[in-house]
Amino acid sequence: MPHSAARPVPAAKGIVPAHVAIIMDGNGRWARQRGLPRLEGHRRGVEAVRTATLAARELGIRILTLYAFSVENWNRPKAEVGGLMGLLEFYLKQELKTFVKDRVRLRTIGRIEELPAGVQKHLRKTIAETAHFTDYTLVLALNYGARTEVVDAARAYAAALAAGQEKLNDRSWATFSRYLGTADLPDPDLIIRTSGETRLSNFLLLQGAYAELVFTPRLWPDFTKADLAAACAEYASRERRFGLTSDQLKSAPTPTP
Ligand code: FPP
Repeated sequence: MPHSAARPVPAAKGIVPAHVAIIMDGNGRWARQRGLPRLEGHRRGVEAVRTATLAARELGIRILTLYAFSVENWNRPKAEVGGLMGLLEFYLKQELKTFVKDRVRLRTIGRIEELPAGVQKHLRKTIAETAHFTDYTLVLALNYGARTEVVDAARAYAAALAAGQEKLNDRSWATFSRYLGTADLPDPDLIIRTSGETRLSNFLLLQGAYAELVFTPRLWPDFTKADLAAACAEYASRERRFGLTSDQLKSAPTPTP
């Protein structure tokens, strides 16, 4: 059920989701409501990225994944795509110092090799210089789509089978999932989408199989620490059953899929 973004809800005690993933939506509407160009909405969206990165850490979240650019976003007007890539490069250049100061490890998922060379260069540098931080990870989903991720994983898995590195009779998810972009990351516990839309739009479709979903009407540039805390509180109020019954859960520790 969507929660009210206006309702003040304290952060849940004890049951903080370890991995939160956010579909950042509503930059365009935020700008239109103010008679501003769409790119201004994205610029304010970058500010909200900074706010959320800090807020997640303060709330005790260990991994924050942000859907920053989808494979489908290339089909937007050329000027908007160029503007988004420019913002991304500027953000990476500016943020490196803060990441190092705040001990934030940067990671990416998606077909990074198809991004502009300048963006790739700053991504490589930031990832390398923050790789040793262990407490908190920011994952940017860039040129990401769950379907392309599965295609890439299936190709890599097929190559490993052909090379004899995997066995055809091993039909486990644990093995196959090692070929996804998220190989060394736990599944998201909570997926949030802003702007009132209630769909997943090709985001973490496999990894989110057991994630709790929270939809908030807040437009992304207006998303605050209180909104993140409210979503975490909503998460804490849910019973995650992973296919078991409620009674089974009462007599056993939390299962994992
Ligand atoms: C969705 O809003 C947002 C995007 C497609 C891009 C998200 C990008 C940012 C938040 C800024 C860049 C990110 C980083 C990490 C530097 P929309 O444009 O679809 O909004 P609308 O649905 O209201 O039109």
